[in-house]
Amino acid sequence: MASSPAPPAAPFALLILLVPLALVLAQQPLQTAAGNSDATALEAVFKEWRLHLPEDPCMNLVRESFAKTASINCSCSDLNRKECRITHLSVTGYRNITHIPVELFNLTELVSLDLSNNNLSGSIAPGIMNLTKLEIWRFNSNQLNGSFPSELSSLRNLQSLWMFDNNIDGSFPKFIANFTNLTDLRIYGMKLRGPIPKEFSKLVNLTYLMIGDLHGNDSSFDFIGDLANLSTLSLRKCGLSGMVPNITLHNLTYIDLRSNNLSGPIEQVLRYNEGLKYLYVGENKFNGSLPSERLQSLLALDVTYNPSVSGSLPTDRKWMINYIGTRLNARRSVDSENLSLLNCLDMEECNRKDFNIVLSSINCGGKEYIDPLQTVFSDDSTDLGAAGFRVYNNSKWVVSHVGADPFGNSTSIVNTNKPIYGTNMSDIYRTARTSTGSLWYYVVGLTSGKYTVQLFFAEIVIESESGRRLFDIDIQDQTFKKDFNIVEEAGGSWRATNITYEVTINNPTLKIHLYWNGRGTCCIPREGTYGPLVSAIRVFPSPDLKASPPPAPDRARQDEKRRGVVAGIAALCIAAAVISSSVVYLWWKWVSLVKHSKA
Ligand SMILES: *[C@@H]1O[C@H](CO)[C@@H](O)[C@H](O)[C@H]1NC(C)=O
Ligand SMILES: *[C@@H]1O[C@H](CO)[C@@H](O)[C@H](O)[C@H]1NC(C)=O
Ligand SMILES: *[C@@H]1O[C@H](CO)[C@@H](O)[C@H](O)[C@H]1NC(C)=O
Ligand SMILES: *[C@@H]1O[C@H](CO)[C@@H](O)[C@H](O)[C@H]1NC(C)=O
Ligand SMILES: *[C@@H]1O[C@H](CO)[C@@H](O)[C@H](O)[C@H]1NC(C)=O
Ligand SMILES: *[C@@H]1O[C@H](CO)[C@@H](O)[C@H](O)[C@H]1NC(C)=O
Ligand SMILES: *[C@@H]1O[C@H](CO)[C@@H](O)[C@H](O)[C@H]1NC(C)=O
Ligand SMILES: *[C@@H]1O[C@H](CO)[C@@H](O)[C@H](O)[C@H]1NC(C)=O
Ligand SMILES: *[C@@H]1O[C@H](CO)[C@@H](O)[C@H](O)[C@H]1NC(C)=O
Ligand SMILES: *[C@@H]1O[C@H](CO)[C@@H](O)[C@H](O)[C@H]1NC(C)=O
Ligand SMILES: *[C@@H]1O[C@H](CO)[C@@H](O)[C@H](O)[C@H]1NC(C)=O
Ligand SMILES: *[C@@H]1O[C@H](CO)[C@@H](O)[C@H](O)[C@H]1NC(C)=O
Repeated sequence: MASSPAPPAAPFALLILLVPLALVLAQQPLQTAAGNSDATALEAVFKEWRLHLPEDPCMNLVRESFAKTASINCSCSDLNRKECRITHLSVTGYRNITHIPVELFNLTELVSLDLSNNNLSGSIAPGIMNLTKLEIWRFNSNQLNGSFPSELSSLRNLQSLWMFDNNIDGSFPKFIANFTNLTDLRIYGMKLRGPIPKEFSKLVNLTYLMIGDLHGNDSSFDFIGDLANLSTLSLRKCGLSGMVPNITLHNLTYIDLRSNNLSGPIEQVLRYNEGLKYLYVGENKFNGSLPSERLQSLLALDVTYNPSVSGSLPTDRKWMINYIGTRLNARRSVDSENLSLLNCLDMEECNRKDFNIVLSSINCGGKEYIDPLQTVFSDDSTDLGAAGFRVYNNSKWVVSHVGADPFGNSTSIVNTNKPIYGTNMSDIYRTARTSTGSLWYYVVGLTSGKYTVQLFFAEIVIESESGRRLFDIDIQDQTFKKDFNIVEEAGGSWRATNITYEVTINNPTLKIHLYWNGRGTCCIPREGTYGPLVSAIRVFPSPDLKASPPPAPDRARQDEKRRGVVAGIAALCIAAAVISSSVVYLWWKWVSLVKHSKA
């Protein structure tokens, strides 16, 4: 795992190596092997979890399945293993483990405690303060709630702290700024309130920093300037605002600042490191143009929805970029039909008459597919890598995606050969599009009216019950689903399900946004397994109201209206002219008649 922090200190490793030797030399019974007090405490813990404690807990790894494991390591102060203390405890992936027995806090020599991917609920017990030797603490992907207890502030030796994907609320704990040995901090997908304490500038040993999903809009980015060892920085949706500082961080290769309120020249972020590989700054307020000399090292760039970013892109190489929602003049390279679709999508000029779509379907991540009712699900098999979009001019769909896990392979398309249950159109579910960030589908040129959006899903990556994929869905910028869980909806993996949403469409573009919100497991079955996954989408007029769509205020219609008004005015003028000339004629006639009669 690329993200592994510093391994436990070398002396422990040596002791661990010596343990088997000791066992051969002196066949000690277990109870004495782990040291009396620790052995009793551990026994009590495992009893409450109803887990089988191996014969010699210091020696055996219990692996029930890929994701469900229990392992314990010890440190013994003598070759006879009379005085052994437990230093490492890792019990992960058990969805039936819901609490931490208090006896666990008696294991005061613990250096590493990993209880990730279980189902722990309630608040973090203050007893944790007794584990002052902890260097690695992983409680990610549980159901813990309450706020961070202040007792935690005694864990000052922590090097790695993973607490993402829980329900912890309250304000972001300031005391973490005192954990100056931290190299790896990951806190996101919870209910915490910002700001990120400015004292975090003291955490100079940080190499991996991932914070996200904070409430409030008051974080400053300035603390980052002192963190010279950073290689991975993700501050997605942290309520960061203000100008980005002018700094240099030589080791930084991955930056994700999506969904904040940051402003200033985009160029400044690109100056952080010449070797920057991934830059995600979508949904901010950056401005200025992209300096081409600074883009050489980049593998992926996301500037989506920064309306003031402009300039042009170097055309000398193929790379992964997504610039939907900007003023970037990269469109020269796009052919004219695609360009008119893109312009429509960005609400620039858009003549809906060019499209006039009423229904449309797409096989996300797959080839064209025709279902038993002859519905054509159009092709969407372009791999978008770590950032990019694709205009399907024939079907009038646009697919757009940004996101790459910093530690794993992020593929934007997944597939399986296994059968899919609960459907007669298996093939549509065997390929799917996925993203560790944001995934948008747009239909361009829909006639105004009321539509049903039908989304098709089947979980084809996560098999283990220890894994959990959660994501949000917005349609036309309205929240449709929060923490959507395919497996729960379908009743298992490799099972098909579909959900529908009714939407009234007034502008020319239907926008479906599926995105990761920091929730769910990160790494089952492998790193980078999280975020939205979708198999197909169908859009059709809602049965009741499909006739007589309401008039729409789009530009084409406005033009029509204007022409109408002009024509109307012209008609009125003509009418007026006719009437007035006839009045004049009649008057003249009458006058002449009168004259005649007088004469
Ligand atoms: C845990 O430690 C407390 C004192 O710190 C002691 O009273 C208790 O017996 C211990 N429990 C176990 C199971 O060792
Ligand atoms: C949890 O499940 C495991 C099997 O995966 C079982 O051995 C254990 O007894 C269960 N624990 C509880 C508390 O039910
Ligand atoms: C315990 O030690 C073994 C052998 O050195 C190692 O494979 C295992 O990962 C260690 N377990 C933990 C929880 O560190
Ligand atoms: C997790 O625990 C809660 C109770 O705290 C329970 O309702 C839920 O079903 C559990 N989840 C799983 C997957 O077992
Ligand atoms: C934690 O340590 C304190 C003293 O340092 C002790 O009084 C308390 O019993 C311990 N708590 C647990 C749960 O072991
Ligand atoms: C940090 O690490 C250093 C060296 O590894 C160690 O001496 C120190 O005790 C640790 N703890 C704190 C709080 O600095
Ligand atoms: C950090 O540690 C210092 C002492 O080293 C202490 O005065 C301060 O209160 C601590 N900060 C927090 C937020 O706990
Ligand atoms: C940073 O880590 C080094 C060892 O890797 C350690 O010596 C140093 O004390 C740490 N810095 C701080 C501020 O704790
Ligand atoms: C950057 O990374 C290298 C090794 O990858 C390391 O030696 C160096 O200390 C890191 N920090 C800075 C500030 O360059
Ligand atoms: C940023 O800092 C560099 C030197 O580190 C300086 O040359 C440059 O002018 C600064 N840019 C701004 C906009 O302040
Ligand atoms: C990434 O993919 C390559 C080839 O597909 C594979 O060999 C490697 O193990 C993968 N790495 C991770 C972290 O999944
Ligand atoms: C959509 O799901 C419903 C059940 O919720 C099912 O009856 C229907 O057949 C599904 N539609 C398709 C096209 O799979």
